[in-house]
Amino acid sequence: MTYRKMAAEEAASLIVHGDIIGFSGFTAAGCPKAITIALSKRAEEEHAKGHPFKVGIYTGASTGDSIDGVLARAHAIQFRTPYQSNKDLRVELNAHGANYFDLHLSELAQYLRYGFFPKPQYAILEASQITDDGKIYLTSAVGIAPTIARLADKIFIELNAYHPKELAGIHDIYEPADPPFRREIPVYTPSDRIGLPYIQVDPKKIVGIVDTNLPNEIGAFTPEDEVTNQIGKNVANFLSSEIQAGKIPASFLPVQSGVGNIANAVLGAMGLNEGIPAFQIYTEVIQDSVITLMKQGRVKFASGCSLTLSTPVLEEVYHQLDFFKQKIVLRPQEISNNPEVVRRLGLISINTALEADIFGNINSTHVCGTRMMNGIGGSADFCRNAYLSIFTTPSTAKGGKISSIVPFVSHVDHSEHSVKILVTEHGVADLRGLAPIQRAEIIIEHCVDPEYKDLLRQYLQLGQKGHTPQNMAAAFAFHNALNKTGDMRNVNWNDYERL
Ligand code: COA
Repeated sequence: MTYRKMAAEEAASLIVHGDIIGFSGFTAAGCPKAITIALSKRAEEEHAKGHPFKVGIYTGASTGDSIDGVLARAHAIQFRTPYQSNKDLRVELNAHGANYFDLHLSELAQYLRYGFFPKPQYAILEASQITDDGKIYLTSAVGIAPTIARLADKIFIELNAYHPKELAGIHDIYEPADPPFRREIPVYTPSDRIGLPYIQVDPKKIVGIVDTNLPNEIGAFTPEDEVTNQIGKNVANFLSSEIQAGKIPASFLPVQSGVGNIANAVLGAMGLNEGIPAFQIYTEVIQDSVITLMKQGRVKFASGCSLTLSTPVLEEVYHQLDFFKQKIVLRPQEISNNPEVVRRLGLISINTALEADIFGNINSTHVCGTRMMNGIGGSADFCRNAYLSIFTTPSTAKGGKISSIVPFVSHVDHSEHSVKILVTEHGVADLRGLAPIQRAEIIIEHCVDPEYKDLLRQYLQLGQKGHTPQNMAAAFAFHNALNKTGDMRNVNWNDYERL
């Protein structure tokens, strides 16, 4: 079948107010970048005429500015799930301009199949290649593309010449059957391939092909600093001591590492640690440090959902695709983040917290309990099911005005029951097998910034009743001090009654 080529504007003109669109990609990798820009202009024009124009959006995770940024600035998003990290969209959803449903990333594809969420009218997929019989070869990510391609009524393809055709073969496309027919997902080691290298669709569903030649919108990582380096070293030394103690097999276990600069620094430090053997990765996002470690022989294989690489590093991978295609597989997030596989492989899971409390609960999403930062992403898919769940965070934020470790987190994403190890630049708290007061003591001792240690010890004295000695009146005193004075250090325990 010969497909119809069209301009992004023509594709956008077919989408109407109230439509729901599913996108390929995961992070800014593999996302469409042209039709949504035209769509945002259309929304602005319609709004100028006094007409409503908003669409519902399903994505793999966060996207590039050409989806979340342009559509948020045009106030064109009706609802959005499952994860975002765009500053303009953050403003829009915190102001209730767009409804945001923050969802575990492994769950979206099955939620769509189960009918929990409405099906998309359109799928917009970025492809490196498409065949006449409807085989779609994706670019640098998979995300939810296989499911939305199947469920959507109509498909637009952005055929992006920036990505080489030789990428074909890096993807492993597999959708599990739904209950009661689901069987085990047959991934027994990170390198197992269980599906096809392409998405097969009915070619008649493809309504148009938009040609592009655009790089991913991924910025460079912030250079490592003293704090992130020290967190990385603390994690690496801890893991090496766990191997020596026989609590992690000597051959090591596959590693999942979260998004952002700290995750990048942690992997870098693990690569340098001689007590950790060369290892495999089973994760969501493959970041720059994985590629560096692969070249050094420290990472043997990486299974992920996206190549979230800065442009120079992605181009390096593309120039040596024969080497990297042997060592990388890209899967749908339903498989890269699948709790069954995470538990079976025994992942060492390392994610970043926005805030932790002295009892081991983690807030990954809400600043001061109310303002959405990004979303839970895949952190809970991994944390709850991993062999060992580690959370990292700098001990303070905003130049010390915020302690990242507080009496009680202002929002709970990962509870004390799932979190095993907490790491800051000051040290490591191993929470396994400890009662609440023991957890509080070790977290204060090993992880809290020196300026906040006494304040948190004093908090513990305010509530001695019950198994977990919270003082509910004072539990958010750090947050109240921050809201009122701009600095958590101004907390005054005399304002609170001792229980
Ligand atoms: N209270 C208020 N603000 C805080 C804070 C706290 N306790 N801790 C950090 N911040 C601020 C920082 O100052 C920074 O602000 P800025 O952007 O104005 O400079 C911002 O939050 C980001 O902090 P940073 O230390 O740079 O963290 P990060 O970029 O590593 O991101 C998360 C941290 C938690 C937001 C990020 O890891 C995330 O979205 N996690 C959830 C999803 C996830 O874990 N995915 C991985 C699963 S595979």
